[in-house]
Amino acid sequence: MKLKKEQWSSKFGFIMAAAGSAIGLGNLWKFPYVTGTSGGAVFLLVYVVFLLLLGIPILLSELSIGRFAGMNAIDSCRKINAKWGFAGSFGIVGAFGVMSSYCVVGGWVIRCIINAVTDTNMNAEFFGDFSSRTFEPILWTFVFIAITCIIVSGGVSKGIERVSSVLLPILFVFLISIMIYSLSLPNAIEGVKFFLVPDFSEINGFSDFMRIALNAMGQVFFSLSLGMGTLITYGSYLPKNSNLASSTVTIVVLDTLIALIAGFLILPAVFSFGLEPTGGSGLIFQTLPVVFSRMKGGSFVAAIFFTLVLFAALTSSISLLEVIVAWICDKTKLKRRSAAIIVSLLIFAVGCLASLSNGAVPELSFGGMSFFELLSFISDKIIMPLGGFFICILVGYIWGIPNAAKEISNDGKLKFGMKWLFSTAVRYIAPALIAIIFVTSVFSFGE
Ligand code: PHE
Repeated sequence: MKLKKEQWSSKFGFIMAAAGSAIGLGNLWKFPYVTGTSGGAVFLLVYVVFLLLLGIPILLSELSIGRFAGMNAIDSCRKINAKWGFAGSFGIVGAFGVMSSYCVVGGWVIRCIINAVTDTNMNAEFFGDFSSRTFEPILWTFVFIAITCIIVSGGVSKGIERVSSVLLPILFVFLISIMIYSLSLPNAIEGVKFFLVPDFSEINGFSDFMRIALNAMGQVFFSLSLGMGTLITYGSYLPKNSNLASSTVTIVVLDTLIALIAGFLILPAVFSFGLEPTGGSGLIFQTLPVVFSRMKGGSFVAAIFFTLVLFAALTSSISLLEVIVAWICDKTKLKRRSAAIIVSLLIFAVGCLASLSNGAVPELSFGGMSFFELLSFISDKIIMPLGGFFICILVGYIWGIPNAAKEISNDGKLKFGMKWLFSTAVRYIAPALIAIIFVTSVFSFGE
């Protein structure tokens, strides 16, 4: 087994690449709509609690495993204990599942850019009509995967780092500007209330609360790219003197900030235009065109905005494909480019089915969920939390907190003041939380 030769060229580059993996459609597309379908502020509250109890400890665990071992996700776990390679294997399956639906949404974003450039008459109906067509969404799905594949073929530091470092800061500034506009719309305050003031009377008993908890847990895993080896792989490219704990906090803060801004951008607009916050996965694609159509020069702003969303999505999809490609390259003699192309084609095949299940072929549904929804249910509510669970057990009990702390503190050179908190979270709180939510939701599935 060879050690990785590739490394991040700077600390900023790593943070931007890791934040680039975390920040994506999960923040801009998924967070606002899941907040909408999960009771608004109550969801936000549970989400923040889970960020602290699950997000931070698991992210830190993954980075330390990766930097310690310096290999792909599976071999890194195996280096800690020969029998534990499976803990990293969730990434390969998970990345495949996430990517298959991610590329469909990526395709929608590309269509929105084209729409903004060519069609000045933007409205809320366009999206429903478009996403249920047969061929067009598949075409844009293909374009999205092809772009991802080209960047991944180019190698780690050249491809990912360069793209992320430039575009994330621009995205940030742009999002804030549109958020301010959205907050100034008439009746925007209703959206802010929905987002920030919890209304517990809206929760229908225990099983409804568990549904919200499951959605919040899935969102934490999905948004931070946890439980599937992405950050083990990224950690493996980190130099030994990097500060894992502070990188973790920076990544979580940036990711959450972007999700919050997306919430403040979408929800006020939803309420201002009298749309339903429970609208589901089309929420941003139905709301934003209406916002832009009311602005002076709206098409231009829309084109730039969706282009930035596309880049945020790409920096995530790159990291997803990277997990699988890094593993195949370590395991076989395949060249990076060939591995990237083969995997992309397989993902495209599943992505086609996911796209068709959105309306063109309604038969593609299982247990009341479309294949598209099922893919994301399996990846962010089953595979990623399970992966996270095993990472906690691996770090908390097999590798052991003293060894993990040694890695996190760079052999004692850095202070690791929160060690006891990390230890409690990784050994007890996180595994217990995942298990409880998991078991209750499996029993209530299909209710
Ligand atoms: N975190 C990414 C997002 O929010 C999605 C992702 C999940 C990326 C898992 C990598 C691994 O869009």
